[in-house]
Amino acid sequence: MSAGWLQARSTQAEWMDDPAQGEAAFRSALRDLELLNRITFGYRPTLRWLDRLVARTGVTRLSVLDVGAGGGDMLRRVARWGAARGITLELTGLDRSPAAAIAARDADTPGTWLTADLFDLSAEARFDAVVSSLFVHHLTDDDLVRFLRWMDRHARCGWLISDIHRHAIPWCALWAGTRLLRLDPMVVHDSTVSVARAFTQANWQQLVDDAGVAPRITWHFPFRWAVSQELPP
Ligand SMILES: C[S@@+](CC[C@H](N)C(=O)[O-])C[C@H]1O[C@@H](n2cnc3c(N)ncnc32)[C@H](O)[C@@H]1O
Repeated sequence: MSAGWLQARSTQAEWMDDPAQGEAAFRSALRDLELLNRITFGYRPTLRWLDRLVARTGVTRLSVLDVGAGGGDMLRRVARWGAARGITLELTGLDRSPAAAIAARDADTPGTWLTADLFDLSAEARFDAVVSSLFVHHLTDDDLVRFLRWMDRHARCGWLISDIHRHAIPWCALWAGTRLLRLDPMVVHDSTVSVARAFTQANWQQLVDDAGVAPRITWHFPFRWAVSQELPP
């Protein structure tokens, strides 16, 4: 059950989604987002899911697409994950922001980078695994239903969405934590807006029903939902 002001998904805009944001401001926000990802165990649901996918399929080569990839930190973690397990990876990051591409390149993110809106990706493009983290709360419910079907079409072995649980605890923790750590102003603003735009389990159940998909919905510490689908070989 969410607190009163978090009862329904917010439609408040994030600064990050304002195309007028300058490159320097966007990159500074991505740097602090990486810090938040590190201290909130943000990579864990995706890496654990990749472990399960590899165990299930027995593959030693894997193509991975990260949607809304930001500064590429998830792909750098996936690269380390693959190197530690002897998995040959073909990594692709997709983000509509040109500043994200520059940030990813400057941080030596391995793989290919696509600067595009996800819905403009070629219908023929396929990846073994399609993942996204802290991205889907940027979408409206209608676009999210479209995105769930999009994931199903573009993934060969499976897909995973990891995003925030809309709840007063992460809202308050981020309100206080981003100020205490003196994070970038865009992150201070967008962090609580992101929680308010995020999801409860009931939201996810409705969204996957509307999309006609039947993924696993699992909760991960601290306050994330992972929505994942394993596809038949
Ligand atoms: C909150 S950031 C998350 C970045 C990264 N995944 C992380 O975990 O830190 C959301 C990213 O999604 C991108 N984005 C938003 N809407 C998009 C769209 N329709 N197509 C592609 N990228 C999009 C933004 O440019 C931004 O970099």
